[in-house]
Amino acid sequence: MRVPLIAGNWKMNTTLREAVELTQKMLRDLDKIKNVDKVLCPPFISLAAIGELIKGTSIKLGAQNVYFEEKGAYTGEISPLMLADLCDFVIIGHSERRQYFNETGEIVNRKIIAALKVGLKPILCIGERLEENEAGRTEEIVTNQLNSSLTEISNITGLTIAYEPVWAIGTGRAATGRQANEAIGLIRHKISKLYGERVAQDLRILYGGSVTADNATEFMQQPEIDGALVGGASLKADQFVSIVRQTSELK
Ligand code: 13P
Repeated sequence: MRVPLIAGNWKMNTTLREAVELTQKMLRDLDKIKNVDKVLCPPFISLAAIGELIKGTSIKLGAQNVYFEEKGAYTGEISPLMLADLCDFVIIGHSERRQYFNETGEIVNRKIIAALKVGLKPILCIGERLEENEAGRTEEIVTNQLNSSLTEISNITGLTIAYEPVWAIGTGRAATGRQANEAIGLIRHKISKLYGERVAQDLRILYGGSVTADNATEFMQQPEIDGALVGGASLKADQFVSIVRQTSELK
């Protein structure tokens, strides 16, 4: 049985003070919800403060990015070693990083290797763009992304995958539960070919893209979907708590 996971990707939102306030608003309610892994991914500058706030609770922390080198002259970058002290999870290969910061499959691969090496749990994001979806190329795109991201990684223990179709991110145009379930089933099948059926059945695969408290149930009812990577709605305490609660009731 896979434990569902709901992660809030705050993206480039919240000052330190706002991040603390947002965490305080949802802390008690989130902590009480059982059978779901709850992960907050605030900006880097708030990780330490939020880490203190959630100490001793069931809530976990994640970063939104990481560099692949351990240390050295890489001005402005944050290393896996620095994060390993602060958090459990790290989002890698988000489509916004691929789009705006030119992250290639090779870079994503190096980041995953570096994260796994220090015991960080990567949340690998993959998903097709609108034109690729419309051209019926979803399977080809996610297969290529999986192959390049996981090159030379023989053990994916600790990895979570998030299927985030780019056309559904921040657009209010979510995939349907069925569409997401189908794509995630396909991803699981590819993983079974790469790592075997057992590993594929144990792997958590999330859906991301315009998930809200209003459509969460539709996704969580789907058998292949093990949770969500939530953007905009994770910045609203009541919305995020509601998504986690619905997940706990349905999974
Ligand atoms: P939205 O939930 O705002 O569409 O963002 C999804 C996402 O990119 C999560 O990583």
